[in-house]
Amino acid sequence: RQGRRPLVAGNWKMNGTRSSIAVVESVRHGLTPDLAERIDLLICPPSTLIASCVAAAEGSNIAIGGQNLHAKPSGAFTGSISAEMLADLGATYVIVGHSERRAYHHETDDGVHAKALGARRAGLCGIICVGETKDEREEGRTLDIVRAQLAIGVPKGATGVDTVIAYEPVWAIGTGLTPTPADIAEVHASLREMLEQLVGPEAGRIRILYGGSVKPSNARELMSVENVDGALVGGASLVAEDFLGIAAAY
Ligand code: G3P
Repeated sequence: RQGRRPLVAGNWKMNGTRSSIAVVESVRHGLTPDLAERIDLLICPPSTLIASCVAAAEGSNIAIGGQNLHAKPSGAFTGSISAEMLADLGATYVIVGHSERRAYHHETDDGVHAKALGARRAGLCGIICVGETKDEREEGRTLDIVRAQLAIGVPKGATGVDTVIAYEPVWAIGTGLTPTPADIAEVHASLREMLEQLVGPEAGRIRILYGGSVKPSNARELMSVENVDGALVGGASLVAEDFLGIAAAY
């Protein structure tokens, strides 16, 4: 893995109320020093819970992140939250361009690029998501789609510190379906090669996560694929045991 530290990230999506802080506490208690030494853990709760999750994770190696941001630092954008606001709460990462944002909020690759710049401006690490739909895969367009999403989305001069990529095939999200290890290897190798074109040797330091129906039972197989530097986990990250079970695949 060329020194890339694995990142296991949980995306709670629109799930969780104040009682869900207990999940962060349980992950914290279940995290062995040995595992904490080997991997980075991240939980991205809804914005309403960021401050309390940051407090619950304080002093551990569990980072807390946002699920979305507005590209601008402040202004008349009712209902939106900027990278600066997330950073102010103690978040250190933010997910950018998740396929649900692209599908339900019409986010474009240019918009993703602007948000990734916003994340960097505020000192957050942006997790830029790419992935093909079922139709695109069946039409044999997977690599073209994800490479284009990457080429437009990733800001110039991206580094392993300010950028993580997540490959999430849209058809694998929340469906229990996953690509084969060979399919994942092909996409991740192609993304790594595209990153080299975009940022040169720094590409070797940028982590590329796999996301889509990752569970404790398939984590070991998925995480051992070449160029897979961790996981972006949805449903299974809502249960501390499952999230830790996935992390233990490292
Ligand atoms: O961002 C993570 C996500 O989209 C994957 O969701 O529930 O298939 O693990 P899930």
